[in-house]
Amino acid sequence: MKHLLSTEDLSLSNAIRILDTAEEMSAVGDREVKKLPALRGRTVVNLFFEDSTRTRISFEAAAKRLSADVINFAAKGSSVSKGESLKDTAQTLAAMGADAVVIRHWASGAPHRLAATDWIDAAVINAGDGTHEHPTQALLDAFTMRRHWATLNGTSSAGADLRGMRVAIAGDVLHSRVARSNVWLLRTLGAEVTLVAPPTLLPIGVGQWPCSVSYNMDETLEKGVDAVMMLRVQGERMNASFFPTTREYSRRWGFDDNRLRTLDRLGLKDTIIMHPGPMNRGLEISSAAADSHRSTVLAQVRNGVSIRMAALYLLLSGDTREPAATPAAYSTNAAYSTKESH
Ligand code: ASP
Ligand code: CP
Repeated sequence: MKHLLSTEDLSLSNAIRILDTAEEMSAVGDREVKKLPALRGRTVVNLFFEDSTRTRISFEAAAKRLSADVINFAAKGSSVSKGESLKDTAQTLAAMGADAVVIRHWASGAPHRLAATDWIDAAVINAGDGTHEHPTQALLDAFTMRRHWATLNGTSSAGADLRGMRVAIAGDVLHSRVARSNVWLLRTLGAEVTLVAPPTLLPIGVGQWPCSVSYNMDETLEKGVDAVMMLRVQGERMNASFFPTTREYSRRWGFDDNRLRTLDRLGLKDTIIMHPGPMNRGLEISSAAADSHRSTVLAQVRNGVSIRMAALYLLLSGDTREPAATPAAYSTNAAYSTKESH
């Protein structure tokens, strides 16, 4: 694996390998000294052409925990406003010695372009491109679900997939790169996915995706679900009216207080409520749902650091073995052995 651009082309072995490595990284996060020397001397550039809180900060934290140097670049306040192109911006940063470029861009396909051309020689990680993909978000979501699923089944998450897990992804699928990356990755991991949305917020061709589609949230809950992932209504990408009113939207498609009670009524005591953030509280998710014991919102953020450490580690440590090495092999790797604390 030289780049991490999408989950659509991520093999099962590479997905499991990233998730297992993230488990190891998460153990590092629990230690008093959270730093490892694995990427000492390497430089990670965070290249953000769109706003971000979680992704940018967690990539920075991940790189620092692996002892890499980090350069943060935000398009706002840079020479992009003077008309500098993606190519020139990327090459300028590469000239400063980037080993990995983490890129978020409003244009779908921008990270693929960086990876496919000879503009730069660095590993490219897609941190969200337009409405296309957000692979590390899907990986951190899968990591969160896998831990939950393993706990429920009384098994270990190491090496595990998500076969048998029922996941509903609900809301603004049309504009969501999180939904796309999750659908591909969850299919690879064997989960059963149902997209729940109004017809106006589903993309053309969704019938060909490897999931079912429902227009009715309550029916989906009634059928039984292990995780409900709420998507943000992406107002900044909407150039028309996609639903009658916000009130109507939250009543029909949002995870409101009534639906929280529905889970209890249906006896779905282990169902988790997920959201990638940022949340529109009161629109796609109520505060009671977001703050309930079922909510994994903050666990997702925490797990994001472990997933991003794993991605950076696997791309930059020169470990390009195929198929995946076993978790046991990783734990004996001196580069981040838990015995080695700094
Ligand atoms: N933060 C996620 C993204 O950038 C989800 C969202 O913004 O709704 O795709
Ligand atoms: N979930 C997510 O990508 O959040 P940010 O947009 O804040 O990075």
